[in-house]
Amino acid sequence: MSAATPIQALGTKIGQEVLLEGWLYNRRSSGKLEFLQVRDGSGTVQCVAAKADLPEPIFARCAAVTQESALRVRGLVREDRRAPSGVELTLTDLEIVAESRDYPITPKEHGTPFLLDHRHLWIRSQRQHAILRIRHTLVDACRSFLNREGFTLADAPIFTPNACEGTTTLFETQYFDEKAYLTQSGQLYNEATAMAFGKTYCFGPTFRAEKSKTRRHLIEFWMVEPEMAYANLDDVMALIERFVEAIVGRVLEERAEELKVLGRDTSALARVHPPFPRLPYNEAARILKDRGLPFEWGSDFGGTDETVLTEGFDRPFFVHRFPAAVKAFYMKRDPEDDRLSLSCDLLAPEGYGEIVGGGQREDDYDTLVSRIQEQELPMEAFTWYLDLRRFGSVPHSGFGMGIERALTWICGIEHLRETIPFPRLLNRLKP
Ligand code: 4AD
Ligand code: MG
Repeated sequence: MSAATPIQALGTKIGQEVLLEGWLYNRRSSGKLEFLQVRDGSGTVQCVAAKADLPEPIFARCAAVTQESALRVRGLVREDRRAPSGVELTLTDLEIVAESRDYPITPKEHGTPFLLDHRHLWIRSQRQHAILRIRHTLVDACRSFLNREGFTLADAPIFTPNACEGTTTLFETQYFDEKAYLTQSGQLYNEATAMAFGKTYCFGPTFRAEKSKTRRHLIEFWMVEPEMAYANLDDVMALIERFVEAIVGRVLEERAEELKVLGRDTSALARVHPPFPRLPYNEAARILKDRGLPFEWGSDFGGTDETVLTEGFDRPFFVHRFPAAVKAFYMKRDPEDDRLSLSCDLLAPEGYGEIVGGGQREDDYDTLVSRIQEQELPMEAFTWYLDLRRFGSVPHSGFGMGIERALTWICGIEHLRETIPFPRLLNRLKP
């Protein structure tokens, strides 16, 4: 174990001499003083080296150290109320562990393609660091909420023999002598585990060959998907409300510093309390037509439609009962109107749009067989899934939330490519 103090913990060491192990984030000089911004992953702190107080070789080293060199710094911790970390270090010694020459990401502005090419280094920058720390807390909050609510984690496979969310975005791969597809959603497996455990969830990477470049689509994204037996559409909407309230609450509580780095207006997040408004699809379609958008009843929303819908709400809201034709084969039809499905999307406000998709599943064997036939899906791949309707079928419901979609909104950023350590985008597989 290293004897170093994490920068995060410096507040508890005021007046003491400590060792830091990190990297040089930035340096400023004023001739007699060198200001070294040192980061160690847990935080950033300013270390002040004074020419008058240091042996000549140490000061010379401080004055020459380059961006992103790896360092061991010794110094005295002083309280400094103006500093974001609340402390400053009076440097007493500096050891260069490894030099860094010509670091490509400088404090000047870089274009996004350049930054994406250097994603392996870009994640060291303050803003990226803040986003990924919020991601860490968000993921933990999702798991904690579901664990606390009695959901059992039962992860779904990545290699699958069939489509879950339509065949247009499937990634095909070879599985020895067979064809396999990368999973688009763990839902069908969740339906099996829910019949075994009552309340379950899976949490893993999902894959969609999205052919369009948008700020809302990744090719590989992470999804948390709870599923409940003996639950209908209302039950799942109630769960989504409490889930989203809980995870946003955790981020507000634990990541205030990071949200500040991002310049996020947190008052919008502080309003995230149930009940969330519930807008039937029929009404949403009417709103879009009234606004003069070229929207026809029966179609799915595009990005612009979603953005326009969010203008009427100051917190997340549901659109429910979409036309069955725009939803997957497993959605249960609305008994009140057979053209509709018992589905719901949760849309985030401030123009963000869909972050959650869910609904009630078809639980009748014969109806489900007809749906699979209608959509021309390969029946033999669904034999096991149909078994769930043969052996003790009950009403059941669930949802999926894309972590990156939710995080883009919570962070208040433009594009979801910054919300995952190494984004997979259309035409981008590197680094
Ligand atoms: O609405 P979707 O397609 O629903 C399902 O996959 C269901 N089987 C989930 C379930 O009920 N268990 O996707 C769910 C969520 C979306 O609301 C969105 O947040 C995210 O997954 N998502 C994407 N995120 C990033 N990039 C993409 N290409 C995404 N596609 C969906
Ligand atoms: Mg959806």
